[in-house]
Amino acid sequence: EQDKRESLYIVSNYAAKFYADRMWNSEDGKTIGLSYFKERGFRDDIVQKFELGYSPDDWSALLEAAIKDGYQQNFLEDVGLVVKNDQGKIYDRFRGRVMFPIHNFTGRVIGFGGRTLKTDKAVPKYVNSPESDIYHKSNVLYGLFQAKKAIRDLDNCFLVEGYADVLSVQQAGVENVVASSGTSLTTEQIRLIGRFTKSITILYDGDAAGIKASLRGLDMILEEGLDVKVVLFPDGHDPDSYVQKLGASAFKTHIEKAKKDFIFFKTEILLKEAASDPIKRAGVIREVVESIAKIPDAIKASVFIRECSGLLQMEERILISELNKMRLAKA
Ligand code: UTP
Ligand code: MN
Ligand code: MN
Ligand code: MN
Ligand code: MN
Repeated sequence: EQDKRESLYIVSNYAAKFYADRMWNSEDGKTIGLSYFKERGFRDDIVQKFELGYSPDDWSALLEAAIKDGYQQNFLEDVGLVVKNDQGKIYDRFRGRVMFPIHNFTGRVIGFGGRTLKTDKAVPKYVNSPESDIYHKSNVLYGLFQAKKAIRDLDNCFLVEGYADVLSVQQAGVENVVASSGTSLTTEQIRLIGRFTKSITILYDGDAAGIKASLRGLDMILEEGLDVKVVLFPDGHDPDSYVQKLGASAFKTHIEKAKKDFIFFKTEILLKEAASDPIKRAGVIREVVESIAKIPDAIKASVFIRECSGLLQMEERILISELNKMRLAKA
């Protein structure tokens, strides 16, 4: 079993080297893959730091190279680098895409994300490795291996949505950044971050439809005893597009200016939505106190109660009695 996992790590590492080699050393790789990254503003040092690559637009480029170099087809299948269709035909999963190897936090390659170069909406933007014996996406954070030292040193972790956000934020000199890769955050991911810092700052995409939906998910971070702050980007921007367009120093200024504690952020969003409707405002109060009830540290919780009493225009003692009720219900 351990031997098999080792073989899967080895074949994944081989594939990462193969995709990188094709990008830097083949004609297609240079004119299509590398120039894509350059057009997006990524410097060579960042492309190298993340071991980015290019998968040739060919049905079996990886498969053939790997077999020729002595790797077993079944291991390639087990990590999903090659796929077998209903007719039993074997082909490469990643074709004609720029490749983002996904590392575990000790630095071993465990999977890939591949981005299309087409703008055709019918083509999925990213194709990702499937779950395997070495890749469980719910307990992986993209970029953690490259970020972990900075996260510990700076005692904060920036959390972004996507691969490109990690690259651009790192390139701006902000090295304590990881991505959840588009899925909502899991408890395992929060605990992984918790090994390096107790403070998370979420950098959201500006396409704010999902923000409200994600509010509840963030309570999980509080439950794990971590502090959460939130930064919104202007409409239509994600951290990558913002920093690429406006530069590193504007990006850092924006973070400092727009950074809000999650509890206040949530309170403000919900209040704005409720406007002057009294029933809705009562609902907001309950939801906010519910979040505060998740904070294990009683002193922190009472500081939030005091602050939110002002924002919610509600007497502190009422909020406290709600809080105690919720805590009792939970216990
Ligand atoms: P986004 O749609 O915000 O993409 O999805 P992005 O990261 O900004 O990508 P660019 O800038 O267009 O290249 C955020 C993340 O969600 C996952 C990826 O991890 C992506 O980085 N995702 C998105 C997928 O896995 N599949 C998709 O089709 C789209
Ligand atoms: Mn497993
Ligand atoms: Mn998005
Ligand atoms: Mn983007
Ligand atoms: Mn995005």
